[in-house]
Amino acid sequence: MSQPKRYTITAALPYTNGPIHIGHLAGVYVPADIYARYLRLKGEDVAFICGSDEHGVAISIKAKKEGITPQEVVDKYNKIIKDSFADFGISFDNYSRTSAKIHHDTASGFFKKLYDQGDFIEETSEQLYDAEANQFLADRFVTGTCPKCGHEEAYGDQCENCGSSLNATDLINPRSTITGSVPVMRETKHWFLPLDRYEDFLKKWILEGHKNDWKPNVYGQCKSWIDEGLRPRAVTRDLDWGIPVPVPGGEGKVLYVWFDAPIGYISSTKEWAEREGKDWKPYWKDADTKLVHFIGKDNIVFHCIIFPSMLKAEGSYILPENVPANEFLNLEGNKLSTSKNWAVWLHEYLEDFPGQQDVLRYALTANAPETKDNDFTWKDFQARNNNELVAIFGNFINRVVVLTNKYYDGVIPEAFDLNEEDERTLAELRAYPSVIASSLERYRFRESQNELMNLARLGNKYLADAEPWKTIKTDENRTATVMHIALQIAASLAIVCEPFLPHTSTKLKQMLNMEVTAEDWSRIAADDDILPQGHKINKAELLFTKIEDEQIEKQLEKLEKTKMDNKASAQVVETASAIAPQKEPIQYDDFMKMDMRVGTILEAEKMPKADKLLVLKVDTGIDVRTIVSGIAESFSPEDIIGKQVTVLVNLAPRKLRGTVSEGMILMTEDTDGKLVFMNPDRAGVENGGMIS
Ligand code: MF3
Ligand code: ZN
Repeated sequence: MSQPKRYTITAALPYTNGPIHIGHLAGVYVPADIYARYLRLKGEDVAFICGSDEHGVAISIKAKKEGITPQEVVDKYNKIIKDSFADFGISFDNYSRTSAKIHHDTASGFFKKLYDQGDFIEETSEQLYDAEANQFLADRFVTGTCPKCGHEEAYGDQCENCGSSLNATDLINPRSTITGSVPVMRETKHWFLPLDRYEDFLKKWILEGHKNDWKPNVYGQCKSWIDEGLRPRAVTRDLDWGIPVPVPGGEGKVLYVWFDAPIGYISSTKEWAEREGKDWKPYWKDADTKLVHFIGKDNIVFHCIIFPSMLKAEGSYILPENVPANEFLNLEGNKLSTSKNWAVWLHEYLEDFPGQQDVLRYALTANAPETKDNDFTWKDFQARNNNELVAIFGNFINRVVVLTNKYYDGVIPEAFDLNEEDERTLAELRAYPSVIASSLERYRFRESQNELMNLARLGNKYLADAEPWKTIKTDENRTATVMHIALQIAASLAIVCEPFLPHTSTKLKQMLNMEVTAEDWSRIAADDDILPQGHKINKAELLFTKIEDEQIEKQLEKLEKTKMDNKASAQVVETASAIAPQKEPIQYDDFMKMDMRVGTILEAEKMPKADKLLVLKVDTGIDVRTIVSGIAESFSPEDIIGKQVTVLVNLAPRKLRGTVSEGMILMTEDTDGKLVFMNPDRAGVENGGMIS
């Protein structure tokens, strides 16, 4: 293998004011873990970094609510969070805490350096003050109406509805979350990071440099902030919980939590390096290192605008290469909420479904909110397990292992002459690692996991077609060959499933008596067998077990009870809308540039070797043209011939898998996420009719 590439992978440091729930997992920790594990399998040099975010107002609020000290709050939740991550199989190289000394020193030093370099503005200004609680109000200590979107429960630093980053004084009708009172204004001194000074840098770096490789949701948010113009942002607070401001005049003040927390990635890396006897610096300062931040969408501004500006100001650090932020996951149609207890808590899941970590990982990835908010339902969870993990993956492995033990005493038989089907299956098998990798490297975790399942499907189908349980009576050589090949598929699954289903991978490798080596990933594509003839495997064990209706009903009842409890305390869980936020405004002229026509699909056929694509011939009224459309998973060709559709006809032609596509068919999704044509609502509309 070539020189390994160095990666610093960070996962958002969770606030230590509550346990981890499925929203955190789906949005941040599962994709980050898949990515880190995949890179390790390829033999790359990976530091996968996380830790508890133990400062900030969220912690103080929780402490007040529970009548304990902030320190007690973070000690309690740090333990729950850390243990549940470990049990779940999130493979952090280091999990630190922002209360650690190494972090206080690192964050303090960072602040001091920017201060000494003159990177801050020092300003005395009027800030919101709660006269009843004798306290300045910032961040989550104050709510009010968002000046951008009108959401009535925006916080003093951020609106969670529209994602805007705010200053507390921007809020309309502010109220203290401590006493509920209306704040007064009082003077206080703070240090500000003048983000406006970094506008040019951010424009070049993000708007020009990452237009094509950052996810559209991330790029779009960054663009709208930068376009709106950036303002200085206070990086200190009048609070007693946090890292003391280490400069003259800073007495009684602490660093803003969003100043110290991202530096936590650096201190956690230092802690890891110290323990491992490594040098931390290349992981943060070497231009060859790839830094990737995994976060949820509410963290985008901090990771793409503020932290990079801090790193840039400091001067010696690298910048993230990508920030693959996810949208939100909802639960049974309602928004996840820690305070309203509307969640599936990881530590509770681990108790209710012992040994079934991978089922949750699988269901969350299959439904990951990668491009839009998504819904987790217990029914879907059950179906993913019973119909996919048990019926496809588990079934295939079980047949292979049981038959190998039965026919050959667990010893891998020789492969004799390969027929066409064998050759085709082996060729497909060897292509899978690169198919899966290509999706992973573009942060498309759902797609890559689906390809993993397709590999299991390939194995299942191969066995079902070859029927070794029949040929064993008539053709021993044929049976041996089929089993030999099926065993190679099983071994490949054991390797490529590791990033997605690590517990399953371990079990399967034990069953197949496989050694685990670094750089495993590349072995599948190689010509030689992973499990050679003569290798002995172990007895079959079940990889997955069926989840019964009663288990699901129990979970649904738990949620029902939460709803009742909330009603009693007059709290209501918020219904989630799965509706994508409105895009940036365009001008009338932009719209007029689009030429959309009614057309009719005359012919349709599958694009060879592309699961998603259909090649269509469409009568647009102007001409009959070829359009390649990514709808093959939703429609079969014969179903759509003769359908009237809407076509964007002046989209510049694009070559897709060698075929030139001249236009685009307009579609939407139904509630199940299935594609639906945008077609005229009745007959008698002529092809070529303009949409206006
Ligand atoms: N604690 C924050 C949250 O849960 C995330 C902090 S990420 C870091 O939203 F960059 F600040 F560490
Ligand atoms: Zn808003």
